[in-house]
Amino acid sequence: MKVTVIGTGYVGLVSGTCLAEVGNDVLCLDVDAKKIAILQGGGIPIYEPGLEDMVKRNVAAGRLRFTTDIEAAVHHGAIQFIAVGTPPDEDGSADLQYVVAAARNIGKHMTEYKLVVDKSTVPVGTADKVRAALQEELDRRAVKLEFGVASNPEFLKEGAAVEDFMRPDRIVIGTDNEHATQMMRNLYAPFQRNRERLISMDIRSAELTKYAANAMLATRISFMNELANLAEKLGADIENVRHGIGSDPRIGYHFLYPGCGYGGSCFPKDVQALRRTAGEYGAPMHVIDAVEIANDAQKHVLLDKILARFGNDLQGKTFALWGLAFKPNTDDMREAPSRVLMEGLWERGAKVVAHDPAATHETQRIYGDHPQLQLVDTPMAALQGADALAIVTEWKVFRSPDFGAVKAALKNPLIFDGRNLYDPASMREAGFEYLAIGRQ
Ligand SMILES: NC(=O)c1ccc[n+]([C@@H]2O[C@H](COP(=O)([O-])OP(=O)(O)OC[C@H]3O[C@@H](n4cnc5c(N)ncnc54)[C@H](O)[C@@H]3O)[C@@H](O)[C@H]2O)c1
Repeated sequence: MKVTVIGTGYVGLVSGTCLAEVGNDVLCLDVDAKKIAILQGGGIPIYEPGLEDMVKRNVAAGRLRFTTDIEAAVHHGAIQFIAVGTPPDEDGSADLQYVVAAARNIGKHMTEYKLVVDKSTVPVGTADKVRAALQEELDRRAVKLEFGVASNPEFLKEGAAVEDFMRPDRIVIGTDNEHATQMMRNLYAPFQRNRERLISMDIRSAELTKYAANAMLATRISFMNELANLAEKLGADIENVRHGIGSDPRIGYHFLYPGCGYGGSCFPKDVQALRRTAGEYGAPMHVIDAVEIANDAQKHVLLDKILARFGNDLQGKTFALWGLAFKPNTDDMREAPSRVLMEGLWERGAKVVAHDPAATHETQRIYGDHPQLQLVDTPMAALQGADALAIVTEWKVFRSPDFGAVKAALKNPLIFDGRNLYDPASMREAGFEYLAIGRQ
């Protein structure tokens, strides 16, 4: 099939590449000429395990191309995926300007039937807006052409995006006619050869499903974070509690890890957007209100622990930071807890020496040459002479360091662990002062 993907970011690039991998002829469009130039030059603008090889393979096979030419992109695909960003607007609702612009471009240039598929995370009712914007452009041109609009929310996780797309748990399709459903079934057939994974529903339900999934996951995290804070005060250990409740099949172990707050490009903005929608439609979701409040507070937990230990004036202090990305296996720094911590430390006069296996470039892009920030190439290099170590992202490489060397490098044997990577008793034995989340 000929497929166009509009928006070549995390979702667009992964989706386009995986669709090419199974034999489709894919053209990826972006308005960011720099991004497209990198891709056309054989590079890759994001860090995502397994993606680079797959891009190269499909480009070499002639099944995957990149362009900034809107007209060519509209002519190419019978299916036009919209995978542009939907950042939060000032009031927290999803900003749909990029989605609508993409729809308008299709209306401006199409000359035959197109199935337009929203892959971006968009509020309920967006398919209607896409349809109206596209129709307006057709009317402006005074041409009569058929088109379909479908919703196909994306559930891939950054860091495991290729794997998630190639072997999805489920493929949610929202359509309002059989022709569109059939086109989507054909497109996704190669991804569900051993069992049916496609869940077909109406468009509004599909749009809501994505928000429901992210809000549910964010709720579990915030619940565990607040429980951890309570456990700490009560003299309990949240890791024991986690085992105790996770073993109940109605609860399960997934997404029960307490930490220093969730971040990324999805949970924070999707929780906000769902809150906004709920309010707008007069069905407030108090649970979701609380999830957001709890997470904002949790992102300050590491800073609060540091201030409780060192006082408010951190002039002359240096903190080593392990992990900058909002989670492991990505370079994404959007809404990352590390940013709250670093900015809080800088504000109080401290310096930060940080290591992240993938997010150095992204950190430089955001903060430039910040005078209180030094980025280093190895975890150990961050520790030399630091007053303490703070762990913010649970990259595998941080799980089992040489604790003797860590202790020798730090000025004080003091670790603030925002991801509960180590056993408190062993850390005490090894001579560390170890402050984790929800543990004694
Ligand atoms: N990142 C994730 O893990 C993830 C997972 C599931 C769903 N989503 C959703 O998918 C959508 C995209 O997210 P992302 O992380 O890939 O965003 P991103 O910012 O990485 O990429 C979006 C791209 O769209 C481009 N763009 C904007 N307007 C355009 C237009 N009119 N024509 C062509 N290109 C245009 C931008 O230049 C950018 O490169 C969002 O709605 C997001 O919520 C993201």
